[in-house]
Amino acid sequence: MEPNIAIRRGKLTDINNVYNLGLRIKELNFSRKIRFHEKREMKEWIKKPRDNLFFTALDSRKVVGFVYAKIVDKDWCMLDNIAVAEDYRRTGIGTNLLNKVCQELKKRKVTYIQALVEEHHTKARKFWENHRFQKGKIFVWYEKRLK
Ligand SMILES: CC(C)(COP(=O)(O)OP(=O)(O)OC[C@H]1O[C@@H](n2cnc3c(N)ncnc32)[C@H](O)[C@@H]1OP(=O)(O)O)[C@@H](O)C(=O)NCCC(=O)NCCS
Repeated sequence: MEPNIAIRRGKLTDINNVYNLGLRIKELNFSRKIRFHEKREMKEWIKKPRDNLFFTALDSRKVVGFVYAKIVDKDWCMLDNIAVAEDYRRTGIGTNLLNKVCQELKKRKVTYIQALVEEHHTKARKFWENHRFQKGKIFVWYEKRLK
């Protein structure tokens, strides 16, 4: 990892930066309707740290990455988003964010972690495979516009 990158819990003062970073990352914005998280959701993650793991990676005071994972049940965690700014990728920041979440989950005796990635995002899939995540069930996204 780059020498000056710090990983810590997300704070209220990070929200604008995480939001702007999230909107820039195409993999996290599925469609025109389904965009990145709302800022009010991020406030909830910070207010309820028992169920929500939210960490940011900082280069000095600049947010360059984040991870958000939700503990859905007592031993099941859904890793919802992990992202690193494009010009900071492949230096180990994503791995460090993931390790931080896993460390925290182990402390809480959570034994299962799940992540979703679109099939064609081969770089992101490689990331999960490098970290020994195995392919689980394949779903098809059905949708309909209600008029
Ligand atoms: C997935 C992601 C978080 C990885 O972050 P990172 O800081 O680059 O990760 P690391 O440096 O720890 O690991 C890099 C590994 O990820 C994969 N990878 C990440 N970015 C890549 C890129 N631009 N080109 C090729 N491989 C890439 C490779 O497997 C790479 O391993 P390698 O360097 O040994 O080939 C980052 O690529 C990202 O933000 N992607 C967009 C968001 C996303 O798809 N998130 C996952 C779904 S929620």
